Amino acid sequence: MSSIAVWPLGADIGVEVSGVDLSQPLDDKTFKTIRAAWLDHSVLSFPAQSAMTVDNQIAFTQRLGVLISHHMPQFCLPGRPEVLVVSNVKEDGRPLGQEKAGRNWHTDYQFLAEPASGSFLHAIEVPPDQGNTLFIGMYAVFEALPADTRKRIAGLNVVHSRVRTWPILYPHRPPLSDEEAARTPDIVHPLVRTHPETGRHCLYLGDVMWAIEGMDLEEGQALLRELYEFATAERFVLSYRWQPGDAVLWDNRCTMHCATPFAEETYRRLMYRTTVRGERPFYASN
Ligand code: SIN
Repeated sequence: MSSIAVWPLGADIGVEVSGVDLSQPLDDKTFKTIRAAWLDHSVLSFPAQSAMTVDNQIAFTQRLGVLISHHMPQFCLPGRPEVLVVSNVKEDGRPLGQEKAGRNWHTDYQFLAEPASGSFLHAIEVPPDQGNTLFIGMYAVFEALPADTRKRIAGLNVVHSRVRTWPILYPHRPPLSDEEAARTPDIVHPLVRTHPETGRHCLYLGDVMWAIEGMDLEEGQALLRELYEFATAERFVLSYRWQPGDAVLWDNRCTMHCATPFAEETYRRLMYRTTVRGERPFYASN
C-alpha cells in the first residue's frame, strides 16, 4: 500500500493526489481511497505520471467502469477506440487527434443516454503556462442558486441535441454526416441531477443543451443561458495548469470542464483521454 496523500487545489473541488504511481498496479485499498477521493472532491490530479503507459491508463480507468469507445475513431489511438487523442499536432500533414476539443463548458458525452461518469486525461506534451483545463463543481453552483430558483428548476428536463448544436459549436469542422447524426439522436436529461453515488444534487448543464421540455423554445433557451452564465462565474472556476506527465481524473456527473486556447502555431499539446460509461441521469427529490 502506497502512502497516499491529498492536497486541495480549489475551494469547492479538486485535490492533488501524491504517493501513487499509476504505472504500477494499485492494490485494492489504494484504489478504494482514490475512488472515495474522486467522489468527495470531483477532480483529482496525479502529478508526474510520465511512466504511465496507455495500457496502464486503460487498466486504471477500467476499474471505474466500462470504457466508452469514441464515436470518431479517426481521433483515437490506432486500434484503441477507447483512447481519445486531444492534440494540435500533425504528423505528415495528418492530425494526431481532435484539435480545439472541449473549448466550451461541457461534461463528456452528455448527448448519450448514459453519459460519462469519469474522464481521465494524461498530458503527454503541454505548452508552458498555457492550455489549462478549467473545472466547475456543479454541487456548489446548485447550492449557490437562490432557493426559489432551485425549487423552480428541480424536475425540469433538458433536450440535449448534438445535431442542432454542432454547427454553432464547431463552425470550423465539417458538418455531421447523416450517419453520424443518426448515431447521436436528441436525448433528454434532468436539469437538476442527483448524483447516483453521493446522492447530492447538482445543476447538469453542458454545451449541447437545446431546449427545456414542455417550455417555449426561446423561454427555455433564455433560462438555460441564465443558468449557464451563473455557473461559469469566475468564483466557481478551478484552473488546472498542466505539467508534462500529469494525469487528471474528474467526475462528469457533478462538474463541467473546458479547455483553454494556447499558441497553437508555437507549441505542441498532446493528451490521451479515457472515459467511463456512467448511469442514466435522474433527479430524485429528498
Ligand atoms: C476534454 O474536454 O476532455 C479535453 C480537455 C482539455 O484538453 O483540456
